[in-house]
Amino acid sequence: MSMGALRLMTLGQTCTASVSRHARVGWSSLNVRALGSSNVRRNDFLTTPIFYVNAVPHIGHLYSALIADCAHRWQRISGAEGTIFSTGTDEHGLKVQQAASLAGKEPLEFCDKVSQEFRRLFNSSYIQYTDYIRTTEKRHHTAVNTFWTTLQDNGFIYKGEYEGWYSTSDETFLSSQQVEDGIGKDGSKVKVSVETGNAVEWTSETNYMFKLSDFSTPLLEWLDKNPRAVYPPKFNNMVRQWVQDGLQDLSVSRQRDRLQWGIPVPGDSSQTIYVWLDALVNYLTVSGFPGQTKLWPATHIVGKDILKFHAIYWPAFLMAAGLSPPKSIVCHSHWTMGNFKMSKSRGNVVDPFDRLKTYTPDGLRFFLLREGVLHSDGDYTDEKILKLLNSELADTFGNLLSRVTGKALNPSQVFPKCHAELFPWQQSSQLASGRATAEDYALVSAVSLLPDSVDSHYNNFEAYKSLDEIMSCLRQANAFIQRHEPWYLIKNKDQEPWLETVLYVAMETLRICGILMQPVIPEMAERLLCRLGVEESDRTLKDLECFQGMQRVIESRPLGEDTGVLFSRLQFKNRR
Ligand code: MSP
Repeated sequence: MSMGALRLMTLGQTCTASVSRHARVGWSSLNVRALGSSNVRRNDFLTTPIFYVNAVPHIGHLYSALIADCAHRWQRISGAEGTIFSTGTDEHGLKVQQAASLAGKEPLEFCDKVSQEFRRLFNSSYIQYTDYIRTTEKRHHTAVNTFWTTLQDNGFIYKGEYEGWYSTSDETFLSSQQVEDGIGKDGSKVKVSVETGNAVEWTSETNYMFKLSDFSTPLLEWLDKNPRAVYPPKFNNMVRQWVQDGLQDLSVSRQRDRLQWGIPVPGDSSQTIYVWLDALVNYLTVSGFPGQTKLWPATHIVGKDILKFHAIYWPAFLMAAGLSPPKSIVCHSHWTMGNFKMSKSRGNVVDPFDRLKTYTPDGLRFFLLREGVLHSDGDYTDEKILKLLNSELADTFGNLLSRVTGKALNPSQVFPKCHAELFPWQQSSQLASGRATAEDYALVSAVSLLPDSVDSHYNNFEAYKSLDEIMSCLRQANAFIQRHEPWYLIKNKDQEPWLETVLYVAMETLRICGILMQPVIPEMAERLLCRLGVEESDRTLKDLECFQGMQRVIESRPLGEDTGVLFSRLQFKNRR
């Protein structure tokens, strides 16, 4: 946080303590910010997991992609160029092989169709990926082959007898401590995974094994040296515990007669490479491996169910191949419905296409990013989303814009002039003539603090914290309008300077909030900024200087075209 912001925070607290009309609260030059010039952004590489094509997408999948998209958009707004943001589909493995056969399709034909559905979902949800990778692509086969050969040449792969449990649903090997008695779909007694409840099968075959047990110490060192290697701390502690509990060598291939749908082990076509090793290498494929490793290491955004694969197997594989382990693994929790994990068999899967239509892409993005927190699960209900969108996007955000730009209060359709003598930015004797109250100063102070703190929340992948603070400013701005009743001011010519100042403060608040909300609601933010007459080139981190700093630039500038309400209130419909 900048010194200015710190000082302002103290001031903000002082401001709210008193609400007297001509409160003597100045804020010197604290609102002049220079975030854009001081924070030089490094180019970055962000990834989503690649999605299994055995089933169609649901909102949980969309959530993983949204967290990454929001962070990536913020990097771009912050001035980063040449970033990579990848997503795509995970198309090999037993579960895809079985799903294709169940659908009566050839595996590749099946994958083409479902992969296209994920792509359609991401395009419709404004996920601005720079690369869409499919593990059935040639470039990926090349990368996996080279990666495997490197592991082998470096002495980390050996052939051994693997005996243990395998869960096809989770595509994972399990020890006997990780399974328990359960009931199968047909009511019969089966063994299931303790963690996921999915059925497991006894597997006994000759496989290639990876020397994971060699990596406990390097992994702990990596975690110690890089506090952000796994984030947030809750998940970092979990990973540390897993490593400390001991690591066993990992089977990294399956017999070809059991699994045909995958990449054969180089030099041994009787074996297929384990789908997780194959899938994790997608991140390297995107970076141009084996020819190059652009922007490596990457930051991976993953759900908690796949943390072990990313935070243990993946860094160990990379170290074994002589490559840098991930820069960071950002782990998020899950969306449930009716407080149960979404699953097709339980019938509680939320269809994202349907919700995009009902709530608009920005509406769905806003809800998922506003309500989703990294460290704990969130329960999805249509009632919750509807109430949130109505109260925040329609009544607070949209309403403020309509009020201050509508012809009733703003007949000349300009970003009005600020009369500093009525709302002095500097503490001086002039203050006596000011008309701003302590609450007004509190608003201006809160808005001035937003950019620094929102910047840090977005960089921590915690959009919900950004949105919390932004919405609080917007609510304060609505209260500010309510307090100064511009609909009376407009009736009296003498009040024109004060009316302009009131509109100016509200519009500055909207301009700052609009720039800051671009990563979450890109379409609405675009319409808002156009309406305020803010040029496309003026919507970045360097444009977040507010109030008197920007006054010279934007005041008296014409507003853009009125394209109607920002977000239309939704009516409650009973869903199943
Ligand atoms: N294919 C693997 C990932 C390989 S990455 C090298 C996979 N695919 S997945 O389709 O099952 O899941 C992809 C992402 O969606 C994961 O991050 C997972 O956590 C996330 N979600 C799946 N269900 C979810 C919820 N109900 N809620 C939130 N995210 C969830 O795993």
